[in-house]
Amino acid sequence: MAYKITLIPGDGIGPEIADATVRALEATGVAIDWEHVELTAAVIEKSGSSLPPHVLESLERTGVGLKGPVTTPIAGGFKSVNVAIRKQLDLFANVRPVFTLPGLKTRFEDVNIDMVLFRENTEDLYSGLEHEVVKDVVESLKIITRFASIRIANYAFAYARKNHRRKITAIHKANIMKLSDGLFIRCCREVATEYPDIAYNELIVDNASMQLVMRPETFDCLLMPNLYGDIISDLAAGLVGGLGVVPGANMGERHAVFEAAHGSAPDIAGHGVANPTALMSSAILMLRHLGESAAADRLQRAIAATYAENKHLTRDVGGHSGTRNFTDAVIGHLT
Ligand code: NAI
Repeated sequence: MAYKITLIPGDGIGPEIADATVRALEATGVAIDWEHVELTAAVIEKSGSSLPPHVLESLERTGVGLKGPVTTPIAGGFKSVNVAIRKQLDLFANVRPVFTLPGLKTRFEDVNIDMVLFRENTEDLYSGLEHEVVKDVVESLKIITRFASIRIANYAFAYARKNHRRKITAIHKANIMKLSDGLFIRCCREVATEYPDIAYNELIVDNASMQLVMRPETFDCLLMPNLYGDIISDLAAGLVGGLGVVPGANMGERHAVFEAAHGSAPDIAGHGVANPTALMSSAILMLRHLGESAAADRLQRAIAATYAENKHLTRDVGGHSGTRNFTDAVIGHLT
């Protein structure tokens, strides 16, 4: 039976990379019955909502979404679509595997980087609680709860055990934010005691940033509250070639949305030159979520082989090919 999955191509380069990803998925032989959902800046402006009801209804129905980037409308006070989806579906865990692609020229190409980042997705300074106390004095509230901290720590440790990872590093600034980050760290330690098979350590966020650049190969899994997770995830993506090549997953108890972290790239939209690697790799995470790990492994190997061959890469990673040629090469490498 075919999997029913919500496909949100988005806008800008979204439809081009979504089309490439759907072709690659079809070539794996996994049967998917896509529920196409239109979500673009124009749709948002017309409906007056960052998350029009038809998008939520489809995701609630299917439980699984593959999403391209959506341009944030310039006019009006629209909130981020991604934040709206995460909040509405309670997608509490942002998961981003970051690994070296063979053959891809980066500043760290001689180093084998292989880590998974876990970012708490629902609270911290993203609670949107800000106010002006008196004129010219503004307060933003950083919310950390035991509930959300235990939940993300449980998710990360369970993932680590299931995927044979060896170590989790919790990242914090509890030396300064003793109460909020202190609570986060206490929750991580508590969960760590239930996983004696996984090594556990902690790093203060500033030191972690330096160590990631100096010795990225020594990291395995990183467990972070929302704000540090947001920043460190992009730093980590930069180690392996940037946002164009790293996948992302937003996971909840009942729903999962897989998406590339980059935006709609209006500067190259419609030119057929966008790099679909990030969305294809997000689709690999989706296949694993569906239990299709053999197909996921095959697609992963095909992308790696395309990079290693270094003949059909897109311009953003130093190649001369377009989206279609790159996708044809990936499909050609599927064994
Ligand atoms: P962007 O990520 O769209 O583009 C930054 C630069 O990276 C551009 O030069 C672009 O051409 C390049 N780039 C990005 N993805 C690429 C790909 N797959 N292949 C080749 N080159 C790629 O960031 P920007 O310009 O700040 O944002 C554009 C729009 O996207 C904005 O409206 C923003 O709000 C929205 N956005 C949406 C996201 C989402 O829906 N997940 C995430 C981030 C931004």
